[in-house]
Amino acid sequence: MNTSGTIGLDITEQYKVDHKESYAAWLQYKKIDDAALLKEYQTWTENIVSLSDSIVIESAQNELSKALSSMLDIHPEVSSGLKPKNRIVLATMKEFNLLDNEIDIDFKQINEDGYMIKSVSTKGNKTIYLLGKRDAGVLYATFHLLRLMQNRESLKDVNIIESPKNQLRMINQWDNMDGSIERGYAGKSIFYKDHSFSEDFNRIQDYARLLSSVGINAIAINNVNVHEVETHLITASFLPKAAEVASIFRAYGIKTFLSINYASAIQLGDLETADPLDSKVKEWWKNKAKEIYRFIPDFGGFLVKADSEHRPGPFTYNRNHADGANMLAEALEPFNGLVIWRCFVYNCLQDWRDRSTDRARAAYDHFKPLDGKFHENVILQIKNGPMDFQVREAVSPLFGAMPQTNQMMEFQITQEYTGQQKHLCYLVPQWKEVLDFDTFANGESSPVKHVVDGSMFPYRYSGIAAVSNIGNDYNWSGHTLAQANLYGFGRLTWNPDLQAETITNEWIGQTFGQDELVNEHVSHMLLKSWEIYEQYTSPLGVGWMVNPGRHYGPNVDGYEYSVWGTYHFADRDGIGVDRTIKTGTGYTEQYFRENTKMYDSLETCPDELLLFFHHVPYKHKLKSGVTVIQHIYNTHFEGVQEAEELKERWAALKGRINSERYEDILNRLEEQVEHSKEWRDTINTYFYRKSGIADEQKRKIY
Ligand code: GCU
Repeated sequence: MNTSGTIGLDITEQYKVDHKESYAAWLQYKKIDDAALLKEYQTWTENIVSLSDSIVIESAQNELSKALSSMLDIHPEVSSGLKPKNRIVLATMKEFNLLDNEIDIDFKQINEDGYMIKSVSTKGNKTIYLLGKRDAGVLYATFHLLRLMQNRESLKDVNIIESPKNQLRMINQWDNMDGSIERGYAGKSIFYKDHSFSEDFNRIQDYARLLSSVGINAIAINNVNVHEVETHLITASFLPKAAEVASIFRAYGIKTFLSINYASAIQLGDLETADPLDSKVKEWWKNKAKEIYRFIPDFGGFLVKADSEHRPGPFTYNRNHADGANMLAEALEPFNGLVIWRCFVYNCLQDWRDRSTDRARAAYDHFKPLDGKFHENVILQIKNGPMDFQVREAVSPLFGAMPQTNQMMEFQITQEYTGQQKHLCYLVPQWKEVLDFDTFANGESSPVKHVVDGSMFPYRYSGIAAVSNIGNDYNWSGHTLAQANLYGFGRLTWNPDLQAETITNEWIGQTFGQDELVNEHVSHMLLKSWEIYEQYTSPLGVGWMVNPGRHYGPNVDGYEYSVWGTYHFADRDGIGVDRTIKTGTGYTEQYFRENTKMYDSLETCPDELLLFFHHVPYKHKLKSGVTVIQHIYNTHFEGVQEAEELKERWAALKGRINSERYEDILNRLEEQVEHSKEWRDTINTYFYRKSGIADEQKRKIY
């Protein structure tokens, strides 16, 4: 029986009532309880004046109305003339310039997606201007204003000028049409059910709101592994529904992309080949593109995983990836569509136990020689590291290595190797490290963020994408604190120069309110959590010591002797992968000279990546002064302690957070503590047995 009085509501509406805070994520819009501030906000927002008229502006108006009624208990009139006083004015450059300008505004200060927020107070009239070059900017300005209000900032003398640093700010859904999600840890897909689209568009709209509130402007709505059913997404059977989904996202300034099966010409078109140089294949894709654009006029384009992990691709026809991508690019070109071509390409059938091969080399070896060969509307999407979203790995040497080919970053918000949303692992600090990594591509100070924001080389398109962490759980992300990863991804992609602390505090304020103790504890927990997870799992950049397939829980040799690769090379004398030039796989040479030198030498290779680059004896002394084996023991003991501390910090917040979120998070933290012990014991025992070297501190190793 439903005891909450919500009988008859669909599941999403029910969540909004029964799991209000968990579901609302960072768009809580809680009532302002400070009387003076409430009064101040109420005067600024008596009226909404909308000078522009578009579906995106409509979304902005709706969001404002919803938020203001919830936070301020007012229901401002929406009008299209400037008459009313005490108002919020929404306008794009076009309408604003037609007016007898009330204030001086220079739209040159912002880029296409940028915005300005200006509050002006004259005698008897207060105005907040939310201005964008385009309507998307006005929507972003609206969300920014609401963020300020949720964080209780004064609206006096606001003068904000914002432009996103990255052009494409994208989310990749790894959702399958049977409703499952590849590497999903938060329930089922919100997009699909039973081999068809879900009917719950309400939920998709709320997702669009969350995404656009942090500036996301593109989404690929199906898994990069395109199976039989999803191959048909680009046919008339599914395009009408895909178009409906695209129109939901369109209203929030988000373009829709689809992942495609490279062999579609065979599977859907009855052709005998998918050879990219075959004229029939080319023709087939051209017609296909036309058909898609008839349904979705602003379709973003294709996301493609080819020649990787059993996906078809141009290699079958002895063609390279430029041939493959360009054929699709030609088809999309007349419609300004993009081909996002993934560089996660390695031969999973190769026997990686042959110690001279190195999976880390694969992307660079495949793609670097093709620099300059791709069409202008192709972007290469490169995972942050050369392996696969490990807790820690080196930054992919491909960044900056292809000055004549558009590149974008691929991060993973879903926590495949980082605790699967059962463990707390806030990834913003990791992403920041990657984005700040100096490639030396253009001499010193050539960070990855300047490659992917298109400022280092004249890229026509570039940006950052990430694999989403959401599903249909009532809190979206399984672990309620994992909402911070989605939020943080958006904010960092908008501006990679933002400090992790700033993003974290913004998120906490909006999600949990202004309680100082909550802020202090949650901020500490989030910012430390990646380091803690690393401590009790994978030491010194070694990675992969997880259960194969599932990628959860400790299994030191799980992958070590599999055809998928050899990853830690531990024997009785030492551990680590020799990727140096002289004695190893030569991977270090893929970097620019300065980094090659740094990683190639034991003296300069940073501790945290030592075992990613070098094979060393267990008694090798780290820069920290302890030996490798002692480091393994120490970090595993410390990691468990710190996980316990995470739980205690949270427990101290009892009564300060609504009970559902409090309990949900507490349960996950308890599970994390128990599981961290399993990690500690498995890893420590393994290396104790392998090395025969005892813990200097004589702690009990099981
Ligand atoms: C990882 C992941 C796969 C995924 C692949 C990819 O290997 O485990 O599930 O398909 O990445 O990025 O394509």
